[in-house]
Amino acid sequence: MFTIKGSVESDAVRSIPSNYICPKTPDDSIIYETQNVPIIDFSLLISSNPNERSKAIQQLGDACRDWGFFMLINHGVSEKLRGEVLRSTKSFFDLTEEEKREFSGENLFDPIRCGTSFNVMVDKTLFWRDYLKCHVHPHFHAPSKPLGFSETLEEYITKSREVTGVLLKGISLSLGLEENYIHKRMNLESGAHQLLVINFYPPCPKPEDVMGLPPHTDHGLLTLLMQNDLGGLQIQHNDKWIPIQPLPNSFLINTGDHLEILTNGKYKSVVHRAVVNEKAARISVGTAHGPPIDSIVSPAPELVQEDHPPAYRGITYRDYLMLQQSQELNKKSCLDRIRI
Ligand code: OGA
Ligand code: NI
Repeated sequence: MFTIKGSVESDAVRSIPSNYICPKTPDDSIIYETQNVPIIDFSLLISSNPNERSKAIQQLGDACRDWGFFMLINHGVSEKLRGEVLRSTKSFFDLTEEEKREFSGENLFDPIRCGTSFNVMVDKTLFWRDYLKCHVHPHFHAPSKPLGFSETLEEYITKSREVTGVLLKGISLSLGLEENYIHKRMNLESGAHQLLVINFYPPCPKPEDVMGLPPHTDHGLLTLLMQNDLGGLQIQHNDKWIPIQPLPNSFLINTGDHLEILTNGKYKSVVHRAVVNEKAARISVGTAHGPPIDSIVSPAPELVQEDHPPAYRGITYRDYLMLQQSQELNKKSCLDRIRI
């Protein structure tokens, strides 16, 4: 199985192969700005002090509306577990190409898929990333190697689902809806879909020439991202690319396309991308939390008004995933395909 990690390590990549060189676009010259995404304190969202809680919920709503991204602290997922996930992920990518081939999969709905440059950009540029994607809920799938990896992941994705559940309750309240509104409307109790996406970005001799992951938005309601201590994620905010420096022991959370659909555009799914570095491998572990795979997502009637008609047509989560898969990643959100 071909991986970019393998070719970097076998020394085949002394200079960047031309099919990885990412053409510069006018967008890339947009100034970077050091601005920080909002920080949300999870412990306040579950506080027994009603004032504290409602303040935190308001901050959560503001973050979703103004940024579509926030850093989550005091979330209760132990540093030990997070460390184990990152360590065992590294061991997984350290398996031989031959061993990894067993998990390569081919189709979007294969329970486990690992490989490289999964989507190619419009101009066929490849990107500097290997990945492992597993469908982990309602049915849990994970590679059987290395030893203990699957157990560690199972514990982790369960915790990340619990955190997401609390966030979605806070988000419902922030929209002026009842706490369980999103849970009920999205049928989250009956088999919410959860996809684990692990990104492995090997060090690159000329990081400015390549792209780790080109600009895109995420499907689903919320994505939780954990990263090792190397930054690389950039988000688009007020037409500028903002680099995100992860706070220790935090999650980076973003609102996905289906939350934008559900809120009829009130909470936006924001374009982001990942760049690479020459120092060391960067690992990011994302979990995308969506509704059950065959549920139809459409704007909530409570958020549709005469002067604010439904902005998206209803589509099943499954069809949306296929639609997103079928289009090349090209800066545009797949949401453009279902906008009314
Ligand atoms: C993703 C993603 C960002 C990163 O997997 O969808 O945006 O920093 N990853 O790896
Ligand atoms: Ni993403």
